[in-house]
Amino acid sequence: MSVPVPNSVEQVLLDEETIQQRVQAVADQVSADYRDKEQIVLVGVLKGSFIFLADLARRLTVPHHVDFVAVSSYGAQGAASGAVRLIMDTRAPITGQHVIVVEDIMDTGYTLDYLLRSFTARQPASLKSCVLLSKPERRQVEVEVDYLGFEIPNVWVVGYGLDFADRFRTLPYIAALKPEVYQK
Ligand code: XMP
Ligand code: MG
Repeated sequence: MSVPVPNSVEQVLLDEETIQQRVQAVADQVSADYRDKEQIVLVGVLKGSFIFLADLARRLTVPHHVDFVAVSSYGAQGAASGAVRLIMDTRAPITGQHVIVVEDIMDTGYTLDYLLRSFTARQPASLKSCVLLSKPERRQVEVEVDYLGFEIPNVWVVGYGLDFADRFRTLPYIAALKPEVYQK
């Protein structure tokens, strides 16, 4: 069964099989790195990471909990202004836990930088980051990513959790939108 490609899509960048293979490889790496740990906590950044996190978590062979945060950016420029705030915190405290922050995409880097800084202050047992997509051209702050899915060019992408105005999130592939869709 194949999902029809909407008119607003310019090009499929990463098809379903390519994504699933990479998610398996990342999950294998995480499972190997944490094999001697009693439990890890995956903290997904809503909403964009929810599908990636679901697929990743189900492929892990180490015991894990799932939790979520939501962030928002101040100002009309969005994340480009660099001011990020937490609008929903994790349900359980992360102190003393082995935490992996799971993000859909790193753009300027401000969001992940903010989350890693504020989580560090809570003294987890360890803290790493896992990001499905990165747009290196857009970086404003250097942030260390421990597990990365793919590097992509500087285009707006949707699908596999990513959206434009909350649309296209459940497409099984990742696609570039036509610029006229997001530039107006
Ligand atoms: P920063 O700039 O803080 O931003 O690294 C990360 C957040 O920006 C959003 N973002 C996108 N969302 N398609 C999306 O659906 C994109 O191409 C895109 N680029 C950036 C996203 O919310 C991410 O968490
Ligand atoms: Mg996001």
